[in-house]
Amino acid sequence: MPHADSALIPKGLQTKAEFWQTAYSQLQGLLHDQRNWVSNLSNSASLIYNALGDSPLHDPKTTNWVGFYIRSSLFPVPRLSPSTVPTDDVQNHDEMLLLGPFCGRPACQSINISPGKRRGVCADAFIKKQSVLVPDVEAYPGHIACDGETKSEIVVPLILLLDDGQSRVVGVFDLDNTALSGFDEEDQRGLEKIANLVVNSSDW
Ligand code: SME
Repeated sequence: MPHADSALIPKGLQTKAEFWQTAYSQLQGLLHDQRNWVSNLSNSASLIYNALGDSPLHDPKTTNWVGFYIRSSLFPVPRLSPSTVPTDDVQNHDEMLLLGPFCGRPACQSINISPGKRRGVCADAFIKKQSVLVPDVEAYPGHIACDGETKSEIVVPLILLLDDGQSRVVGVFDLDNTALSGFDEEDQRGLEKIANLVVNSSDW
C-alpha cells in the first residue's frame, strides 16, 4: 500500500471509538519497521491530521494543527567545538519543550516548563503527566496562542515507562481546533492510546 494511503478513513465508520481504532491500526502499520523518533513523530502527525480531516465523526476540516513538543534534552546538541561555545552556556540553559514534527501552520518553537516560569496547556500536561482537554482556549489561564483561529485544544503527554517501573515524560502530543469543544473525552481516550503507540514504537 502506498504510504499516503495510510491515512485513508473508511466512510462507513459509525463511532469515534471505531475511528480511533482504525487510526491506531493504520499507525501501527506505518511505524512497525522504524524506531527513529523524528521519522515516527513526523508520520504520526501527518496520519492523524489527515485522518481527522477525512473523519465522518468530526467536524470537517476544523483540526488546524497536530504535532509534538519534545523536551529539549532529547534533541541533538549543536556540533560545535568547546572552543567556540563555552560549555557552561550550554549546560545552564533551562530545559524547554521544543517544537517537533507537526502538520499545520507555523507554531511557537519553544515552551518553558521550568518551575515558576511555565505557562500554557502543553507545559501543564507535561508537568502533570495528564491529558488536558480545553473546550475554550480563551478561558484557559496561560494558554499560549500560536494561531488566532484556534478555539479549542487537547494535549496528551508522551509517557515512557522504564524497566524499573518509573516513568519519564518525553514530550507532548498537541492538537488544535478552530471550533469550540472540537475534541471530547472519546478523542482523548483514542489519542492517549495513539500517544502510547508512538512512544513505545520509538527509541528516545
Ligand atoms: N497552545 C499551546 C501552544 C502550542 S500551539 O497550540 C501549537 C499551549 O498553550 O501550550
